[in-house]
Amino acid sequence: MNKKTIEDILVKGKKVLVRCDFNVPLDADRNITDENRIVGAIPTIKYLVDNGAKVILCSHMGKPKGEPKPEFSLAPVAKRLSEKLGKEVIFAADDNVVGENAKKAVAEMNDGDVVLLENTRYRAEETKNIETFSKELASLADIFVNDAFGTAHRAHCSTVGVADYLPAVCGYLIQKEIEFLGNAVNNPVRPLVAILGGSKVSSKISVIENLLDKVDKLIIGGGMAYTFMAAKGYEVGDSLLEKDYIDYAKEMMAKAGDKLLLPIDTVVAKEFNNDAESKIVGEGAIEAGWQGLDIGPKTIELFSDAVKSAKTVVWNGPMGVFEMENFAKGTNAIAQVLAEIDATTVIGGGDSVAAVNQAGLGDKMSHISTGGGASLEFLEGKQLPGIVALEDK
Ligand code: 3PG
Repeated sequence: MNKKTIEDILVKGKKVLVRCDFNVPLDADRNITDENRIVGAIPTIKYLVDNGAKVILCSHMGKPKGEPKPEFSLAPVAKRLSEKLGKEVIFAADDNVVGENAKKAVAEMNDGDVVLLENTRYRAEETKNIETFSKELASLADIFVNDAFGTAHRAHCSTVGVADYLPAVCGYLIQKEIEFLGNAVNNPVRPLVAILGGSKVSSKISVIENLLDKVDKLIIGGGMAYTFMAAKGYEVGDSLLEKDYIDYAKEMMAKAGDKLLLPIDTVVAKEFNNDAESKIVGEGAIEAGWQGLDIGPKTIELFSDAVKSAKTVVWNGPMGVFEMENFAKGTNAIAQVLAEIDATTVIGGGDSVAAVNQAGLGDKMSHISTGGGASLEFLEGKQLPGIVALEDK
């Protein structure tokens, strides 16, 4: 990591604006249902508090589209964060984010205090990276710390624009994410196995292309595998299929040779629901009227054997419809193997994180990324603007 970090600057007595990704899921009663991102932000906040900074946190939540909307308020985050930190987090409720209330809360801070600003997307400028709002944010602080890995693929005021007006460094979470994801992909202990799943080939094209040159084995399961099966000339019945990507799948198969592992059997169902009639069929045997919803037992064995010999594994995307119990076996089996092997296991965001947590195996993985879209773009080999904007060492 060639970017300056919070340890490279003096923070004592300074007002430090920290961009976190507190875009966490809430239930109907506005309770936080997954606190991974809050937990992930704590080491940086603690370091700054312990070193006598005045810590001003900011984040977006959801897509309020440039207007104050109470259902997108960060108030529940302030509450949960206070509990987790064991210290009061003062919530600066303010429809303008950097309005009178926020300015007052910041002016009253003592060293070691923590203030959380309101949702940055209450301001229309935020997602357009317009300098007026970047300057307002910068006016609150002496230093900018970006620790929002999950939002580092967005060039917004609070992730990129503000870095034009303040010394800008990264926090521990971004550092950790880059270390795990970066080492896994660019400097892995071999063999390196990547497991890709999820519904669409189209959303993973650049990931496949970037990883193919780097991995020792590439495993493809989940909904995207059916397009590859079609590329082999098999019928896929009513399974997910992206016809426009069949040629691409053929090209990738030719390029990958025996590096690529695809399902050799499938759990098919009559309908897309947990209680639908289902059966296991062999390779190329999905009939009309049936749809593939999970990998079959032979595939679980094939994929597990490949994973067992790995020293580094990167996983992005489930093997089947893991949200339905009857079609979660493949995804759970892969999570179980990853939990047991002696290897660095990196779970790259989104649904695979949900799947690992649903299987109760989150704490058995070396690293669970807090980035969905951001980790995907990282795996595509792209530069993330929120990181590019920070100062080099
Ligand atoms: C995420 O959840 O992936 C990040 O918080 C970014 O959110 P966004 O997709 O609304 O920009």
